[in-house]
Amino acid sequence: MLKLSLRFVLPLLIAVAALAYLSVPLIDRLTLRWFMSDLDQRAQAITATLSGSLRDAYGQGALPRVTALLNDASTDERLQSIALCDTRGTMIARSAQFPESVACRPSAGDERVLRLPQGVLHATRVPLPLGAVGGATHSMVVLHDMSFIELRSSETRWYAMATFAVLALVVALITVAVAHLSWRGWVRGVRAMLTGEGLLRPFAEGAGSVDKALLPLEAEVRSLFRRLERQRASDTGASEGWSPQRLRSVLQSQYAGDEIIVVSNRQPYSHERRGDQIVVAQPASGLVTALEPVLRAASGTWIAHGGGSADAEVSDSEGRVQVPPDRPAYTLRRIWLTQEQVKGYYEGFANEGLWPLCHIAHVRPVFRADDWRHFVDVSQRFADAVVKSTKRPDPLVLVQDYHMPLVPQMIRDRLPQATVVTFWHIPWPMSETFGICPWREEILEGLLGSHIVGFQTPSHCRNFIDAVDTFLEARIEHEDMTIHRAGQLTRVAPYPISIAWPPVNEEPIEATRARVHAALGLPEGHRIAIGIDRLDYIKGLIERFAAVEHLMTTQPQWRGRFTLVQVASPSRSDLPEYQAFHDRVVVEAQRINDAVGTARAPAILLKIEHQGAQQVRDLYRSADVGMVTSLHDGMNLVAKEYIASRDDEQGVLLLSVFTGASRELHEALLVNPYSAEETGNALARALAMPLAEQRERMRTMRAWVHSHNIYRWAGAMLIDAARVRSRERVSARIEQLQRRHLKVAS
Ligand code: G6P
Repeated sequence: MLKLSLRFVLPLLIAVAALAYLSVPLIDRLTLRWFMSDLDQRAQAITATLSGSLRDAYGQGALPRVTALLNDASTDERLQSIALCDTRGTMIARSAQFPESVACRPSAGDERVLRLPQGVLHATRVPLPLGAVGGATHSMVVLHDMSFIELRSSETRWYAMATFAVLALVVALITVAVAHLSWRGWVRGVRAMLTGEGLLRPFAEGAGSVDKALLPLEAEVRSLFRRLERQRASDTGASEGWSPQRLRSVLQSQYAGDEIIVVSNRQPYSHERRGDQIVVAQPASGLVTALEPVLRAASGTWIAHGGGSADAEVSDSEGRVQVPPDRPAYTLRRIWLTQEQVKGYYEGFANEGLWPLCHIAHVRPVFRADDWRHFVDVSQRFADAVVKSTKRPDPLVLVQDYHMPLVPQMIRDRLPQATVVTFWHIPWPMSETFGICPWREEILEGLLGSHIVGFQTPSHCRNFIDAVDTFLEARIEHEDMTIHRAGQLTRVAPYPISIAWPPVNEEPIEATRARVHAALGLPEGHRIAIGIDRLDYIKGLIERFAAVEHLMTTQPQWRGRFTLVQVASPSRSDLPEYQAFHDRVVVEAQRINDAVGTARAPAILLKIEHQGAQQVRDLYRSADVGMVTSLHDGMNLVAKEYIASRDDEQGVLLLSVFTGASRELHEALLVNPYSAEETGNALARALAMPLAEQRERMRTMRAWVHSHNIYRWAGAMLIDAARVRSRERVSARIEQLQRRHLKVAS
């Protein structure tokens, strides 16, 4: 800044000095001329005063009296001497000090300034009518001492120089001050725009929020900001090597000292009573893998429904327990719900209403007013728990899934400084479908309480934005995928969820394969396809079975040589739709086995049970084909888990085009599960695929899942949320400064 000021001030000082150099002599000459004209007037006045007495004395021929009169008049301080000249220009009389060298008439030109041994004199020749002779008159030569004028002139020169110097100094100071102030203003303005303040609060709104002088720059800086943002987004996307450590370092750099809270329906650990023992159960969920490192690093809180049979026994009066049980690192805060609340909020509204609404699986959603009331009450309980859990006014709250759409705005109402990021794990339907929900506006408004709403795929993001556009009054910026509503800004973005990497694969694959075949009672070398799913109608189990039937019918050589091993873990089994589905699956598997199975091996080996992570991994590693034929699925992590387990780079993934995973795993055999022919033929192709082709496809997909793992999913959201937080903080700070400024100004 100092450098900048000097660079500007120095030329200014030189310019002022040059101006002074040129103008001071001019001023000098001008003042001299004024003084000389003063002396001329003075001489005329003296002549006029003396004219009467001189006329008398001269008329009487009394020259000594004339001389005396001239001597008397010359006693004036500045008057040096006077002489009287006749009409011919001959000097008649003169006062005592009149220099001899000065004549009545000037020798050449207008000799008014005379430099004589007596000093610098100024001569004024004034006509004096003492008696005209042939039109000529007498005259007086009045000599003034000019030394005082010289003195004044040099004083004037000095004052002029001093005035210029002071002027230069004042101008320089004002320049530096103005430059400094406006530079600060610009810096602040540009910084405000770069930090996104300009994006959050357009310039037109709120006079004075950003310097108006910056308006022409707005578009340019905005587009620069967007470019940087895209660049940053692609950086996060392209970089490999996301790990728990990298996630922790994001937390350390962006969230040091901040509070982090996760809200979800399912808890990361449940305590179950088995006789007189309490055992800890952990759901096999990608969510826990992703969010546990975050909560561990931040010593945060996870708020969830305490649904385990021994949960209450191990929790404190506030429902809190430290987890993981073997190495406590964060707090699990359990919400206790009555049977009625579980029925209304979880089974009813979430799983009979929103779940079929969001999945195109042709199961009619059921919406009941009673369920809705419980849904609202329970949502408020979760939001209240967030408020109780936080010691700071500005926690980062990570809200999970379709059980919680009302919670974001409820949190914002109570904690306006909180940052809320919501991730919707399941698909978001098209707005015509979403419009079926009688509380569609409330659901959308609740979600728009989030700063960021994340979905699995860009098309779910578009559907959500479309629903907001259709059912709410809001300003939508499609290019940025942002929604402005009721003074709040929500960014909508895809964050495809994934799995942990590196996967745990301890044993050589041949050993696993042999073990699994033996355990399943299948002969060695028997070909296997694997299906691992919750027993849910969206998973396309019936369709998968139909594809197996098609294969066995069209290529009977596979009968007794190939089996689909289908593990279906019971899910939401209190709901009639799920019970009916269970029965259908059992009947259909039996029917197909009767039709195309052999005594050697069944066509479908259906196992309706929960299997542990290790068992599931073994099945993946033993399977020639991984079958994922969901009718609709937000992501489907089984597809990614199958790839992760295949460090031998063998096996073929057969994947429904209606899963989020199919948007990433292009090397899978993509199928429409509604077509038994297409899926059956793809199954035949998978079983016949050369090993080299399998390796090429598997290697590419493994590289993708490696770089796009679960830590990247969490990291991307945390980085985006950190940006939102710093923008909010900057904008709060600016508002505070503006308020202070207005107060001072008034
Ligand atoms: C699936 C969905 C998740 C959801 C979970 C709930 O895995 O993809 O988004 O949270 O089901 O299952 P639950 O057994 O808790 O009803």
